[in-house]
Order: sequence, then structure tokens, then C-alpha cells
Amino acid sequence: MRNSISATSVFLLLHVILFSVFLQSTQCSNFSTDESGNLLEEICKQTPLYDLCLSSLQSNPQSSKTDVKGLARIMADTLLANAADALNYIEGLIKQSPEPEVERSLAYCAELYIPVVKYTLPQAIDALTNGQYKFANFGISDAAKEADACEKKLSGSTKSPLSDWNNLVENLSDVAVAIVNILIEG
Ligand SMILES: *[C@@H]1O[C@H](CO)[C@@H](O)[C@H](O)[C@H]1NC(C)=O
Ligand SMILES: *[C@@H]1O[C@H](CO)[C@@H](O)[C@H](O)[C@H]1NC(C)=O
Repeated sequence: MRNSISATSVFLLLHVILFSVFLQSTQCSNFSTDESGNLLEEICKQTPLYDLCLSSLQSNPQSSKTDVKGLARIMADTLLANAADALNYIEGLIKQSPEPEVERSLAYCAELYIPVVKYTLPQAIDALTNGQYKFANFGISDAAKEADACEKKLSGSTKSPLSDWNNLVENLSDVAVAIVNILIEG
């Protein structure tokens, strides 16, 4: 009895060892790590903003149990949530009746952000889910373009009140595009 149990354990142990040797030798991509922490780090290293990438992904518990496509989806969702918050912030500033010139610039920015939040990013996220990665990246990179256009409009004589939001949206967009590019390059 005792002997047969230990024989079984030895057999199992051998199996585990052989299997991990096999896994290591067949690991042909960066993404087949079995620890999610490694996957996040490997993916974020391939984006232009490692820290922002890692902190954004780590703040979502789903990140620890998903694949590269899932991480792209989480990053795109994070981008959408932040673009929506930016739009709320802009609308809040407009309600505080700023000077007419500032108000015009803020209204211009709201008009840039509204389609991003309502159509462009939700459509990009659908495309991502359906595996249409190039179309997804088109929409995701548009968010950065609009944030940049808003920032340029506001950065006149006074300091832009939206710099932090616009930069964050641009940065999150850059990270999400880089992750979708990993999917495109397969
Ligand atoms: C990950 O892949 C890149 C090329 O895409 C390669 O240069 C790098 O060495 C790989 N890293 C590891 C840890 O395998
Ligand atoms: C965006 O990224 C730049 C570096 O490219 C950094 O200097 C800046 O602090 C970041 N801004 C935000 C809001 O994340």
C-alpha cells in the first residue's frame, strides 16, 4: 500500500517535471507565461507607458485571469471610463459660467469628447471583442487625437484647465493601442 502510494507520487512528480520542461521548451511567445503577473509585465513592457499600463491593469481584478485580448479589452474600458469622467469634468466647468472665451473652448472640447464617449470608443470595444483589431485601433487612437485637439485649443494665454485629463486620455489611448498592436502582430 505504502509502496504503491509512493510509486504513484514519484510517477506524478516525474510527470510534473517532464511537463514543465516540455512547456519551457515549447514556449515560443512572450505570452504563454502561466503566472498572470508575468503576462501583465510582459505586455506592459511592450507599451510606451509601463507604469500606467501596469497600474491600470492591476486595478482590475479580471486582469489576473485573462489573456492578451482580455487585457486589451480592460485597457479600452479604462480609457472609456476616463474619457467619460473627463467629459463630466468639462461639463462641470461649463456650468460654473467661466469667461466667454474659456467657455467657448470648453464647449469645443465637450463636442470633441461627446462622440468619443458615446460612439467611437464603444464601437472600438465592440470591434475588439469581435476580433476586428485594426478597426478597434482606429477608434482607440481617435480618443488621443481628440484629447490633443482639445488641449491645443485650450493652451493659449492661460493654463489649460484640462491638461491632466487630456494627458491621461492620450496616455491611456497610447497604451491601449500598443496592446491591440500586439494582437494585430499575433
Ligand atoms: C519577447 O519578444 C521580443 C520580440 O517580440 C523579444 O525581443 C524578447 O526577447 C522576448 N522576451 C522574452 C522574455 O522572451
Ligand atoms: C502622460 O505621459 C507622459 C509621458 O509620456 C507623462 O509625462 C505624463 O505625466 C503622463 N500624464 C498622465 C496624466 O498620465
